[in-house]
Amino acid sequence: VKKLARRHAQGGRPVARAAVIGAGIMGGGIAYTTALRGMAVRMKDIAPAALELGMGEARRQLDKQVQQGRMGREKADAVLAAIRAQLDDADLQESDLAIEAVVENLSVKHKVLADLQAKLRPGTVLASNTSSLRIDHIAAPLPRPADVVGLHFFNPVPVMPLVEVVRGKASSDAAVATATAYASALGKTPIVVKDCPGFLVNRILTPYIIAFCDLVSEGADYERVDRALEAFGWPMGPAYLEDVVGMDTGSHVIDIISAGYPQRMRPPERNAIRALVREKRLGQKSGAGFYDYDSAGGKPRR
Ligand code: 3HC
Repeated sequence: VKKLARRHAQGGRPVARAAVIGAGIMGGGIAYTTALRGMAVRMKDIAPAALELGMGEARRQLDKQVQQGRMGREKADAVLAAIRAQLDDADLQESDLAIEAVVENLSVKHKVLADLQAKLRPGTVLASNTSSLRIDHIAAPLPRPADVVGLHFFNPVPVMPLVEVVRGKASSDAAVATATAYASALGKTPIVVKDCPGFLVNRILTPYIIAFCDLVSEGADYERVDRALEAFGWPMGPAYLEDVVGMDTGSHVIDIISAGYPQRMRPPERNAIRALVREKRLGQKSGAGFYDYDSAGGKPRR
């Protein structure tokens, strides 16, 4: 995989300045991980509270590193200072690469990306962190679709090694190469995938989550399912995983990907994840999902 990634990264331009649009769990994690690797980051959101949360999480992770003696205070301060949280578009035009990590909604993404591309220099890679929408659909109405690729990170971004680099029909080789080189510079393992609903990982993960919902609707206790799969050797069971991913995102992913493969997948008849969205139990980020949490990002009380 590493050899292939090196080949895909050939001809990629180095990224010194990145822009991240959306300071939620994914955007905040991408900004923090990018700064950790010595790049300057502009993190933009329209909500001051989201920016505070994104910066707060970066600060919490850095403090932990310092307390554990893994990083000096000076370095931690420098990493934090490398992330500029902003509500406006200041200096976005200086970015070598920009990543959009806003809500999983095609029309919102179109608006955000069109505004953003109007500010970027031609040739600047514009990446979407979409988990389920097609890059071709995202890029089609934009002025420079050749600059658009997918960069699909996994949650929690600082620890999950895989990044899917999605090549759309219009994506240029240079954009794919720069995105792959950037993911490698983050210390990640990039794989270049075709543009199809769910790319690679979510095509495998979605049927698993649908099967989990079916089990729960047949009367299985979600906590016992989690414990069984954790004993089986997986790092976390499906209920805890959906709490980490976020119930709103998880629900969108099931809907969009199952609609993309109507012959092979069908959404669960009784969808425990959608029921939790209705109850506003969005998972770890809201303090409650399948499990209750003492703090955002904390361990479940079980
Ligand atoms: N940010 C930064 N670091 C974190 C973190 C976070 N949010 N959460 C955990 N970590 C770090 C810890 O600090 C710890 O680091 P250390 O070993 O250097 O001290 C390490 O990760 C292990 O953490 P813990 O000991 O607290 O807990 P676990 O051993 O249970 O590991 C986990 C946590 C790495 C999240 C592990 O449970 C795991 O790999 N879970 C699977 C997650 C997964 O599958 N994610 C993909 C979701 S799907 C997705 O995102 C796609 C989307 O499109 C739906």
